[in-house]
Amino acid sequence: MNYIGSKLKLSSFLREKILNVVGDDLSSKIFCDMFAGTGVVGRNFKKDVKKVISNDIEHYSFALNQNYIGNHEDITDKEAFIEELNTLHVRDNGFIYKHYCAGSGSGRQYFSDENGKKIDTIRIKIKEWKENKKINDNLYYFLLASLLESADKVANTASVYGAFLKHIKKAASKELVLEPAYFELNDNSHQVFNEDSNDLIKKIQGDILYLDPPYNQRQYGANYHVLNTISLYDEFIPRGITGMREYNRSAYCKKREVSQSFEDLIKNANFSYIFLSYNNEGLMSEEDVKKIMSKYGKYDLVQKKYQRFKADSDTNRSHKADKTFEYLHILEK
Ligand SMILES: C[S@@+](CC[C@H](N)C(=O)[O-])C[C@H]1O[C@@H](n2cnc3c(N)ncnc32)[C@H](O)[C@@H]1O
Repeated sequence: MNYIGSKLKLSSFLREKILNVVGDDLSSKIFCDMFAGTGVVGRNFKKDVKKVISNDIEHYSFALNQNYIGNHEDITDKEAFIEELNTLHVRDNGFIYKHYCAGSGSGRQYFSDENGKKIDTIRIKIKEWKENKKINDNLYYFLLASLLESADKVANTASVYGAFLKHIKKAASKELVLEPAYFELNDNSHQVFNEDSNDLIKKIQGDILYLDPPYNQRQYGANYHVLNTISLYDEFIPRGITGMREYNRSAYCKKREVSQSFEDLIKNANFSYIFLSYNNEGLMSEEDVKKIMSKYGKYDLVQKKYQRFKADSDTNRSHKADKTFEYLHILEK
């Protein structure tokens, strides 16, 4: 998934720096990915550690991580379920088609009509199977994560769901095909949460805490509201041109609250090593972060310059933006 702040491209940098500090053998360690997003960081450590604790406040992220992190044992016949979902007779009375496709008269166009109907058809069937106990939680989240990933590929947006495009773009005109969201198998079991980081931190403990909070005012719940709607598949009245739902307003996206929240998080963390990814254009400055973390132990900082890409909302292409720095703040508590 093309996700704001995804650490996919920084995976090897993060891995290298974390191992430098903690050592190569992580087999007895508990690793917490507190702001998990797509789950790519937790996935990178899943095979090495005793347990991954994964958390994100957004429901679509929770669903993805229940699959990518939570699922660790093979699921029999999972492809057969994907196949069945791909070949269902398509219905046109679902929530996504009704509110987020043009053909229903919604005035919105987040998906082509056919793809909107297919999302509803698949989502309703997954829900029905879960309620009838035809599928267990593991299979439920595997199928739901597969749907979220596959739907996101054909979304008619420039990059996020804060707006849809007036005309159906090329990628969005392709038929949605449900692709399996494969997860890595391993012996250990993991934990996945859907809580505010500052609540969860008081209930868990471990060795390595990786923090990747939002660094600017853009709320993920607003930017990815349609994914939450597919994930939750509940009834509500969509608001405004974009069909927004009620969404979480993270303290990490508020200039006036971020430093206090961050300090509380660090203070309450029962972890020996804390790593924070943060951008040089973030709401907290490098100095702010350093000041807070240094109060609680031995502090260090490493950084990496990298190329950022921006989606252009007019041409709908992504282009190179300025180089930015990604900081990794390190605390041995
Ligand atoms: C920069 S993104 C993380 C990206 C992730 N590391 C990845 O590679 O995909 C920040 C994440 O923090 C989540 N978030 C924001 N505020 C939160 C909070 N108070 N508690 C938990 N998660 C939060 C957002 O939903 C978002 O997924």
